[in-house]
Amino acid sequence: MTQKKTILDFLKMKANAEPISFVTAYDYPMATFAERAGLDMILVGDSVGMVVYGYENTLPVTMEQMIYHTEAVRRGAPNTFVVGDMPFASYQSSSEAAVLSAMELVKKTNCDAIKLEGGVRVVERIKAISDAGIPVMGHIGLTPQSSSQLGGFKAQGRTAESALQLLEDALAVEKAGAFALLLEAVPPEVGGLISSRLSIPVLGIGGGDRVDGQLLIVGDMLGLFESFTPKFVKKYTDLASIITAALTHYRDDVKNRRFPEDIHCYKMAKGESERLQAMLGDK
Ligand code: KIV
Repeated sequence: MTQKKTILDFLKMKANAEPISFVTAYDYPMATFAERAGLDMILVGDSVGMVVYGYENTLPVTMEQMIYHTEAVRRGAPNTFVVGDMPFASYQSSSEAAVLSAMELVKKTNCDAIKLEGGVRVVERIKAISDAGIPVMGHIGLTPQSSSQLGGFKAQGRTAESALQLLEDALAVEKAGAFALLLEAVPPEVGGLISSRLSIPVLGIGGGDRVDGQLLIVGDMLGLFESFTPKFVKKYTDLASIITAALTHYRDDVKNRRFPEDIHCYKMAKGESERLQAMLGDK
């Protein structure tokens, strides 16, 4: 059985330059596989909205949906550090709303930490949630909940000025009490700079090779999400083709009466088939 890692373990991993492995999951089976594969951390991201529900973006995702999926992941990965994502509109309006939302997510799902998006502008929220005793992961760079403000799903920090703005955001998130920072879609120089200036672990999703750990969205890396594939994704397999081929095979077997075979069929108790025939014969 794996031993669940803690925030202190992640700090030690950063100090020892041991990369942290991080993946998203949204349901019980995938969480089971992630734990079996020895991932250090699982994010139940609001990307569930796009990967599982087929929404165009993450904005429609509700707290009820996040609770439902985070609970399932917790059951599938009881010994892995699970981060629950705060959906849009659950923390933006006030620090009080943010603390109540974070408490609800943790209380109902038993996740180990929460994640929210934003830099300087959400430091009060991060501080309030941390002060309530809940570990917070920050998230800057390409922040999908505000992608329309950013002009779409675009890489960030590509100019010196915007890289410095990201560094300012990162330092503010750390100062506010976050235990880790997720950095999305920035050049490796920016990932390296931010990781070297922060004492908390900096995890990258499209953040290059100089950060303290890597996150990928499970639907992207397994080839399940077909709408688009960001540049930073490495596809480790093509489950969409594998699943479609298996379903086609099944359909053909059914249509051609090749399924079920004898091995898939229950047997009547000894002698009962003959007895049934005899009983039917009497009628
Ligand atoms: O919801 C999510 O999976 C995320 C990633 C895009 C980082 O926030």
